[in-house]
Amino acid sequence: MTGDWIDDNRISYDTVAEAYAEQVRDALAGQPHLLAALAVFAEAVRAGGGGPVADMGCGPGHVTAHLRGLGVDAFGVDVSPAMVGVARRDHPGLRFEAGSMTDPQLAGAPLGGLLSWWSLVNVPDDAVPGILAGFGRPLRPGAPLLLGFHAGEGARPKTEGYGGHPMQIHVYRRVPERVAGWLRGAGFAVEAQWLLDPDEQRPSAVLFARAAAPRP
Ligand SMILES: C[S@@+](CC[C@H](N)C(=O)[O-])C[C@H]1O[C@@H](n2cnc3c(N)ncnc32)[C@H](O)[C@@H]1O
Repeated sequence: MTGDWIDDNRISYDTVAEAYAEQVRDALAGQPHLLAALAVFAEAVRAGGGGPVADMGCGPGHVTAHLRGLGVDAFGVDVSPAMVGVARRDHPGLRFEAGSMTDPQLAGAPLGGLLSWWSLVNVPDDAVPGILAGFGRPLRPGAPLLLGFHAGEGARPKTEGYGGHPMQIHVYRRVPERVAGWLRGAGFAVEAQWLLDPDEQRPSAVLFARAAAPRP
């Protein structure tokens, strides 16, 4: 570990970018509930008048591309330049930028929606409320935010992954109500909460929220 979680994430995901992309390339196909959540999100973006949608922590860009297929003007941002390179290579028509989700200027404004799909799972708890507040700033009032993450409790260090590559990150599981509370504190109205695979060892959660009017 470098002592800086952003550097740890960047270095680790740079190391596994190719292997990660290989593993998730077709992952959505077997996930009807995730596909349904993405479809609801895409419909909300379209109903709100469209506009650019940021996929923050986009990894290899397969979800960005899926949203494009649903008619959303999606682009991706990731802290790992190697992930961005894989995303650009695999989805040459789409826009991908390197940068950290902690930078509120990064996404540009105004946005018609924002997605964080399993990209807060390596972010420490104390950084999440500030990041969510930053997500709210470029969003048009009423624009949708979709978060996907590991449900549950606790954090564990991950020292290798995706075929045995070295990694130095933490993986966080979170109770959906806690994340919903953070969203409300960041000015979002929470509209839906899905708990997926509640009977399995590793449940997932998806939260759908909307940006409030900007605070004076
Ligand atoms: C578990 S992967 C999820 C990738 C993709 N969204 C997906 O669903 O497969 C976590 C991603 O978040 C990115 N990430 C971690 N910290 C970040 C940060 N501070 N800013 C932007 N991206 C970050 C990592 O580089 C990695 O690509």
